[in-house]
Amino acid sequence: MIHYSKFDGAFDFSGKVALITGAANGIGKATAEVLASRKANLVLLDMQEKVKDVAADLAGRYGIEAMGLVCDITCGEKTQTVIDTAVGRFGRIDILCNIAGIVELDDAENLAEDIWDKVMDINAKATFMMSQKVGRVMIATGGGKIVNIASQAGFIAIDRHVAYTASKAAVIGMTKVLALEWAEFNINVNAVSPTVVLTELGAKAWQGEIGENMKKSIPCGRFAYPDEIAAAILFLASEGANMITGENLVIDGGFTIK
Ligand SMILES: NC(=O)c1ccc[n+]([C@@H]2O[C@H](COP(=O)([O-])OP(=O)(O)OC[C@H]3O[C@@H](n4cnc5c(N)ncnc54)[C@H](O)[C@@H]3O)[C@@H](O)[C@H]2O)c1
Repeated sequence: MIHYSKFDGAFDFSGKVALITGAANGIGKATAEVLASRKANLVLLDMQEKVKDVAADLAGRYGIEAMGLVCDITCGEKTQTVIDTAVGRFGRIDILCNIAGIVELDDAENLAEDIWDKVMDINAKATFMMSQKVGRVMIATGGGKIVNIASQAGFIAIDRHVAYTASKAAVIGMTKVLALEWAEFNINVNAVSPTVVLTELGAKAWQGEIGENMKKSIPCGRFAYPDEIAAAILFLASEGANMITGENLVIDGGFTIK
């Protein structure tokens, strides 16, 4: 077989270091598991204490090194400490997965200003600040991969999602600019945009009749599992995606093709 690139076809992440935010639950946890299964070392960040248990469990089951660090991604000082700790331990960060996020829903005419600020701070601003800080490390060490999580709500209109939609549209936009600016540093920046995923956050927005109606309008007829999003993130974090940058990979069972 002729090899034209560094992609080995086996998704082997041995020796790579991945920093994942929101790793205590849902899509972040599933992403940590799939990267651990391909032998990446992990720096897992979440505001919930149980991120430490997730790290210990994955280290034990997959024979990798994994640190679980409790940190609110909106606190710049603390995220810098986490990044410094990771670089101190591993010397580099090859992959950043910006997955931590929240959803808050309200009619546009009622949405409170503090809720708007909170959603934008966590989903949009913190995603940029993490990317900027880890991007500096990647620039200094020869490159890397950044995968941001946006949403189908980032590019279509969904009832009561105004703050969430604005925050995810910002993620899709910043992904393109970072991809453009950092291509010369060998950094690929991409986003994934899922439909409803079966997690706590997904349940918050889509429980009951509203969820059942939503499912009927998804051509695949169901919501996504967290590991189906993790699989796409794994690909975008791999050498197989070296020519993909600034892309927003939609994982929606066909919901937005209509
Ligand atoms: N579940 C869905 O339907 C869906 C669809 C599209 C996009 N997304 C996006 O996927 C991402 C993950 O969502 P999920 O469904 O796995 O949700 P989840 O609630 O299961 O997990 C989110 C994690 O992020 C952490 N987190 C939240 N705010 C934080 C902060 N300030 N600092 C550190 N950690 C923080 C939480 O503690 C939690 O562990 C979010 O960005 C979400 O917007 C989810």
